[in-house]
Amino acid sequence: MKIGNIDLGERPVTLAPMEDVTDASFRILCREAGAAMVTTEFVSSDGLVRDVSKTIAKMHTLEEEAPVAVQIYGSIPEAMVDAAKMADKAAELAGGHGADIVDINFGCPVSKIAGRGAGSGMMREPDKMVAITKAIVEAVGKPVTVKTRLGWDDNSKIIVELAERLQDVGISALTIHGRTRCQMYKGEADWTLIGAVKDNPRMHIPIIGNGDINSAQKAKEAFDRWGVDGIMVGRASFGHPWIFTEIRHLLDTGEELPPMSVKDRVALAKRHFQLSLDLKGPVTGVYEMRRHLSCYFKGLRDFKETRIKLVTSKDPAEIFATLDYVAQRWGEETPEVEGVYGL
Ligand SMILES: Cc1cc2nc3c(=O)[nH]c(=O)nc-3n(C[C@H](O)[C@H](O)[C@H](O)COP(=O)(O)O)c2cc1C
Repeated sequence: MKIGNIDLGERPVTLAPMEDVTDASFRILCREAGAAMVTTEFVSSDGLVRDVSKTIAKMHTLEEEAPVAVQIYGSIPEAMVDAAKMADKAAELAGGHGADIVDINFGCPVSKIAGRGAGSGMMREPDKMVAITKAIVEAVGKPVTVKTRLGWDDNSKIIVELAERLQDVGISALTIHGRTRCQMYKGEADWTLIGAVKDNPRMHIPIIGNGDINSAQKAKEAFDRWGVDGIMVGRASFGHPWIFTEIRHLLDTGEELPPMSVKDRVALAKRHFQLSLDLKGPVTGVYEMRRHLSCYFKGLRDFKETRIKLVTSKDPAEIFATLDYVAQRWGEETPEVEGVYGL
């Protein structure tokens, strides 16, 4: 599958953008585990245009992440185009590798965003959505992609027609989360309409399906049943970045990997933590790692006290020592966790 000239290989599995989760350390880890592409957390177009340094910093990416998309969101057409141009030049503005792709978020359901007409709020104004996308494609030198949902609610599942319109204004790939805005994250993702977009003979750009992929088997089914070009994994990667290795292995060999032992999870968590420290420093690096650390060892028996230690300690050396203790005490165990990890 190709996005513009960027070759993601056969049946690629990408990491979903997730606010407060998919920072550079997690993105690198997921790329190392086999994710074909990663995306930054969403970046506010208003914040970019107002030159807010924290917003600009969110566009900072590293060579090791490539190919990486910088994702923007907003509702004001001029600001969105200006922000897209800035994302296009992310390497100059924020340093680092910059963006290989500019991705537009038309899927976020959170009230403070969708309620203001941004994210999935744009699904109520498809003409405006298409016009903004067209203007961005014309303004940006890199491939432009869109991530969106099925529609606003059950009575307005417009994705099949919308996909054609977005393709016609020049996007290079489309990611569809199989829920409406009104579903938020509830219920089960409905892949039927993702399949319908893929089946539409007019469509020729890659279609990436997203929603509820939480095992290698489910990933394989998504490809086999719905014929999508790629899939995107979000919540199931949380505390479980090796899901990309598990999916890749099944897709490439037809065989399932055994669950990862706690010893190997500790090795990954340590790598993740070290990246977090290197990239964010000892204070923020520890703080932002907490939500991940509590998830790596989900399902482990008699773990409560150790978990509390992991997520309250401020001292990196103590956290590393606790991780070593986890490997020593539970090393060969392989806890079974049902369903979606993390959130
Ligand atoms: C904590 C969290 C943060 C998210 N942030 C973003 C975001 O910044 N941009 C975006 O397009 N989607 C965002 N999403 C949606 C995910 O990218 C994805 O579409 C959704 O979680 C469904 O996929 P999953 O079932 O594999 O998790 C977020 C989801 C979660 C749970």
